[in-house]
Amino acid sequence: MSIDPLSDEKIIESWRTNAAPWTDAVRESRIESRKLVTNKAIVDAVLSRSPVTMLDIGCGEGWLVRALAEHGVEGIGVDVVPELIEDAQRAGGGDFRIASYESIAAGELHVTVEVAVANFSLIGKESVSALVCRMPEMLATRGAFIVQTLHPIAACGDLPYEDGWRTGSWAGFSEAFSDPAPWYFRTMESWLQLFRDNGLSISEIREPINPVTGKPSSVIFITESDC
Ligand SMILES: C[S@@+](CC[C@H](N)C(=O)[O-])C[C@H]1O[C@@H](n2cnc3c(N)ncnc32)[C@H](O)[C@@H]1O
Repeated sequence: MSIDPLSDEKIIESWRTNAAPWTDAVRESRIESRKLVTNKAIVDAVLSRSPVTMLDIGCGEGWLVRALAEHGVEGIGVDVVPELIEDAQRAGGGDFRIASYESIAAGELHVTVEVAVANFSLIGKESVSALVCRMPEMLATRGAFIVQTLHPIAACGDLPYEDGWRTGSWAGFSEAFSDPAPWYFRTMESWLQLFRDNGLSISEIREPINPVTGKPSSVIFITESDC
């Protein structure tokens, strides 16, 4: 049976296909907005909580775990793509494991951390809702779940400002990339609702601005468990 092109399953297939060029693009600092704005923004957001332990969800090749290790943070990185986890393990700096959001939601990852972070990795629909539902149980007392994602206003484009699947694109990336992952667009209101519905209250919202365009490069939600 073929995979629905607008589905959580397709996202995983696409990231498996693009693991090697993704590792190269990240490690060669080829993504301008990351270099200019969003890498520092997420490192600062995590460090603002002064954690000792951290879980990087959808860690890719592991750059964020390595960056935070330089500040003394003990990181665990998880991702569904084995090739990315192997790249991360080779580079070191943390404990890297293969895990899907679906398996984490099912309670198969037994860790408790002071900060859980998802950097541009909450892409899908059902897999993301299920993962967010699980988050409060994985946070230590006064722990935080921090999400950096595309800013809904900036990323909406010409389509209606409403939740829904969007087709992906590798525009601006090298020709080594193919078969872009679809993504599930959420409005600002819908992101806030997703956290609230799952026992997470918003402690802070940051909108890192790109100094060249003057527009937000992303939005960062810093959330805390209600209990
Ligand atoms: C845009 S990359 C971001 C990687 C990393 N957080 C970073 O900042 O470079 C999105 C990542 O989310 C992961 N991902 C997407 N859906 C997933 C799922 N259902 N379970 C686990 N990882 C997933 C992909 O494999 C990919 O590594």
